[in-house]
Amino acid sequence: MVVDMVNKAPIGVFDSGVGGLTVVKEIMNQIPGESIIYFGDTARLPYGSKSKKTVIRYTRQIVHFLMQKNVKAIVIACNTASAFALETVKSEIDIPIIGVVKPGAKVAAETTKNGRIGVIGTEGTIQSGIYSQILSKTNPKVEVFGKACPLFVPLVEEGLIDDPVTYEMTRRYISGLVDKDIDTLVLGCTHYPLLRKTIRKVVGNDINLVNPAYETAKSLTQVLSTYGLYNDSIAKTNHKFYVSDGAEKFKSFANTILPCEVVETKDINIEELG
Ligand code: DGL
Repeated sequence: MVVDMVNKAPIGVFDSGVGGLTVVKEIMNQIPGESIIYFGDTARLPYGSKSKKTVIRYTRQIVHFLMQKNVKAIVIACNTASAFALETVKSEIDIPIIGVVKPGAKVAAETTKNGRIGVIGTEGTIQSGIYSQILSKTNPKVEVFGKACPLFVPLVEEGLIDDPVTYEMTRRYISGLVDKDIDTLVLGCTHYPLLRKTIRKVVGNDINLVNPAYETAKSLTQVLSTYGLYNDSIAKTNHKFYVSDGAEKFKSFANTILPCEVVETKDINIEELG
């Protein structure tokens, strides 16, 4: 009975904003029976230019908020928070918690043919060196080329997904990586899968684009199974969405990305609740 209740508990997922919805979409597609509680820290975005100390503080508040909602597992659907805070908060809680960096890095290291891998992400993620560390640990022969792309997040947040300005910025950011003869490019920020088509146009068809969102949902499935936390009931899912600012804007965005309708998004004060 108790086990059954735990298994029906939701999964907590969070990001600094809308980017984590790319992870939610993959979770909904891969394990549709699970309910999700999502928090987007829209009031404090971006995390990518903030210090490690600040990102750890924000992450702790959000993890606390999600634990109060009795989630059975947590996904940090933000590369920057995964890079800076996952290891710290992991040791502070007693439920499974995963980030987006390891699943994406692992698949890139395992599938590269020429060992030359590009990683794009926020300034924080690239400067942390986390992708290089995990890629080299998984496959010591790889050479990693990182590039911070700070304008991608505001372009996505502004909805300029298929726009000449975005194309031009993609060309400027990524051409240098293509010149390094990479055969794999990791989209190391949760917003970037939304720019996949534009990125594909710039890199051509010969470079494998790794989407950590997809790999994270696969990894979550394994974690739930390892801990016996799968929800195999056929009851309807009950997803809930919270943000720290701009609930209506978030809701409209979510409805363009997710495979289900987001009926309501609640604004909360994470500083007080977390
Ligand atoms: N979600 C963040 C990440 O994946 C990008 C947005 C931000 O800088 O907060 O790194």
